[in-house]
Amino acid sequence: MKKIIIINGPNLNLLGKREPNIYGSLTFTEFFDTVKEKYPNVALEYFQSNIEGELIDKLQVCGFNYDGIVLNAAAYTHTSVGIGDAVKAIETPVVEVHISNTFGREEFRHQSYISANAKGVILGFGLQSYELAIQSFIK
Ligand code: DQA
Repeated sequence: MKKIIIINGPNLNLLGKREPNIYGSLTFTEFFDTVKEKYPNVALEYFQSNIEGELIDKLQVCGFNYDGIVLNAAAYTHTSVGIGDAVKAIETPVVEVHISNTFGREEFRHQSYISANAKGVILGFGLQSYELAIQSFIK
């Protein structure tokens, strides 16, 4: 069974009530439950933190014994050399995801410290971006 973890960064715990026009009205837990049901043959886990160092710790812990990491570092995508370095340091492939199309938004969201070392990047498909990333690991 493939072991895949979704790691979400700051403010993504507010999905469902945070700017629903951009991020939708589903909570992440609601979405995650449907994905788990859809992929019963995948060992799927979920971790969220608003704290940069906790995200780095989690990447380091999972980064040598999981089959895939789906990472939405949220705002840290655009600022964190530390998270970018962690993605580079680990062995598990990381797919960077974003709910919104960051290239259609403010200029500061066009920069990513993660993309260069990610296996791939999926963005702009709403919560479906996560599912596409999971599929990329199991197909
Ligand atoms: C986001 C895009 C980021 O720019 C933003 O800071 C987020 C969410 C997305 O999933 O669309 O918090 O990563």
